[in-house]
Amino acid sequence: MTAIDHLSTAALAVGIFALLSIVYYSLRSGSPPTPAPRRASRRAIESLSREPLPDGAIYELGSGWGGAARALAKRFPERDVVGVEISLAPFLWSRLVNRVAPIENLALFRADFFDLSLANAAAVFCYLRGKTMTALAEKFSEELPPRALVATVTFAIRDRAPVRTDRADDFYKSEIFLYRY
Ligand SMILES: C[S@@+](CC[C@H](N)C(=O)[O-])C[C@H]1O[C@@H](n2cnc3c(N)ncnc32)[C@H](O)[C@@H]1O
Repeated sequence: MTAIDHLSTAALAVGIFALLSIVYYSLRSGSPPTPAPRRASRRAIESLSREPLPDGAIYELGSGWGGAARALAKRFPERDVVGVEISLAPFLWSRLVNRVAPIENLALFRADFFDLSLANAAAVFCYLRGKTMTALAEKFSEELPPRALVATVTFAIRDRAPVRTDRADDFYKSEIFLYRY
């Protein structure tokens, strides 16, 4: 076998491992690491930036491949932005990108966000399916400090009135919801 053959075999093995890992974590969390449409996450971030924020960090829960977390960190350079992702392959990718092109105020963690305290959150951004949003709603009510904001793409928080709604100019005309706690 030549060096090229060895490299191809290694690349194939990494690809298969990444794929299996994505399938495993998608089944486990119920959410595949599908990025929010770029225009929708930009619109949600704009929506967040139009409202006064209390002190604290900005969290992206389920930060996937890291695109929206990077956009948040660039839009709020004076804030600590924390991306939390459970799925190994997108998490490693997001860390790699942040290693190659670091953003100083961005930290990316691999964790289950249900195990994380949101007591120091000024704002939360998420693009998660409805069932996960329902489970998170209780966590938000219990842990978020007064006046913290939650911006969600597509999936609303049931039984809570948003302070602002918006519609992105993407293919799906994604709805954006902004909540004040
Ligand atoms: C629909 S994707 C959105 C990705 C990212 N927010 C974006 O827009 O690019 C949802 C992500 O949430 C992650 N996720 C779901 N449940 C999670 C949990 N309990 N803890 C951490 N991450 C979770 C999934 O692995 C997936 O990558």
